[in-house]
Amino acid sequence: MQRLPMAAALAALMLAGVSTTAVQAADSFRETKFKLIARTNKAINDELKKPAPDMKAIAANAVKLDRMAAELPGWFPKGSGPKLGVKTHALPAIWEQPAKFAAAAAGLRAATTAMKTASAAGDLAAVQAAVPKIGASCKACHADFKEQD
Ligand code: HEC
Repeated sequence: MQRLPMAAALAALMLAGVSTTAVQAADSFRETKFKLIARTNKAINDELKKPAPDMKAIAANAVKLDRMAAELPGWFPKGSGPKLGVKTHALPAIWEQPAKFAAAAAGLRAATTAMKTASAAGDLAAVQAAVPKIGASCKACHADFKEQD
């Protein structure tokens, strides 16, 4: 069995009016962004493990995390994803079930906004309550929309 030649896949995308460089850029841009999401989330969790967590540091990271959660849906433009042989773990379901994907992204946003509000108010208990909600949102979306390694 021969795989669809790369040139044909590229031509199909170009016909669809999608710039291949833009699509490839979206895939690597996404990787960078998700690494930043993970690092920011970890920074919050690490701070919370300290005997006296610095709420200002948590609040600053919570603002960043919330902003990234809001931007997340825009990291998946049409045509980016598991085409072109680009290394990506984004599953086709993202583009096939946009409403479900949007709901998964909104789930994370709700949790990050709760974290932002709680940390800005200096409410440690509410911050701690938001942590597992954020983690669950990451996992839920990955289960449906991210290819496992
Ligand atoms: C709405 C869906 C969604 C949510 C919510 C989500 N992710 Fe992801 N994540 C993905 C998808 C899809 C990929 C694969 C992207 C790709 O390979 O193009 C990914 C990739 C990643 C990666 C791998 C990046 C790399 O090196 O390639 C990390 C790390 C990650 N996510 C962490 C997180 C963390 C931490 C959270 C929660 C704070 C989170 N994600 C929330 C969908 C989501």
